[in-house]
Amino acid sequence: MSALAVSTLLFIFSNVAAAPSNLDPTQAVFDTTLPPQIGWYDPRNNGGRFLDFTTPKFGEPLNVIISGLSDPFILTDFGFSYYTKSLGYSQECLGLHYGDLHGADLGDGDGVKEQQIIVRQYYFPIWGTCWESLAGGHHFRAWKQNGSLADSGAWFIGASKEENSSKNHKIVPNGYNLGRDWLVERAIKGGRWKSNWWKADVEWRTDLIEPGREGVNHGIAQDGRIAILTVRRL
Ligand SMILES: *[C@@H]1O[C@H](CO)[C@@H](O)[C@H](O)[C@H]1NC(C)=O
Ligand SMILES: *[C@@H]1O[C@H](CO)[C@@H](O)[C@H](O)[C@H]1NC(C)=O
Repeated sequence: MSALAVSTLLFIFSNVAAAPSNLDPTQAVFDTTLPPQIGWYDPRNNGGRFLDFTTPKFGEPLNVIISGLSDPFILTDFGFSYYTKSLGYSQECLGLHYGDLHGADLGDGDGVKEQQIIVRQYYFPIWGTCWESLAGGHHFRAWKQNGSLADSGAWFIGASKEENSSKNHKIVPNGYNLGRDWLVERAIKGGRWKSNWWKADVEWRTDLIEPGREGVNHGIAQDGRIAILTVRRL
């Protein structure tokens, strides 16, 4: 047995020994027959990609995933609107829908599907989301990975920072990385909406998309980092 295996076993034993003694003795603590819990599936395994489809050719990076192992409430449409408000976004100004609809293929068997959510930075308290429409700022689009081939329930998000309306909502320089980091910073700091509190753990992945500008809308490079958030209810 290798040294690694021995130390792994020792680690397991020490944790078993440390487990509370009131566990039901018939409960299988290490049940290997249970499938591992899946928080999200890699879209590339089934024809998808980590760029949305802004045009048939170019897309914006799907740079944040909210894992399906998150608080089940925020995986619903209703709960997600609460959660995005806790982060400082809101649904579009007066329900006004402007801007192109983007598609994304999450490899869940649905093919390319239209964005399901778009939210914009909320400038509290005076201007609301209408202000972002004029002033630019942070926004994101989201899609749910819930097709029958990969039904993780995860939200896949393309976050970015936009110029103001004089520039027709072009993405600012480095706007994909900035938009992602703004969201992630707020998520791990934690926040609340209507007495629901959340806080996220983040795992950074660098193996899902090549850094660079290839295929990226507006030719703005992204750094190849994708944040996987697991959002806990406090
Ligand atoms: C998948 O998720 C979207 C967004 O929450 C929802 O509108 C749709 O009904 C869901 N599809 C299924 C098959 O549950
Ligand atoms: C929009 O941004 C440009 C520079 O990027 C600036 O000159 C202009 O004043 C801004 N307009 C508004 C409405 O903020």
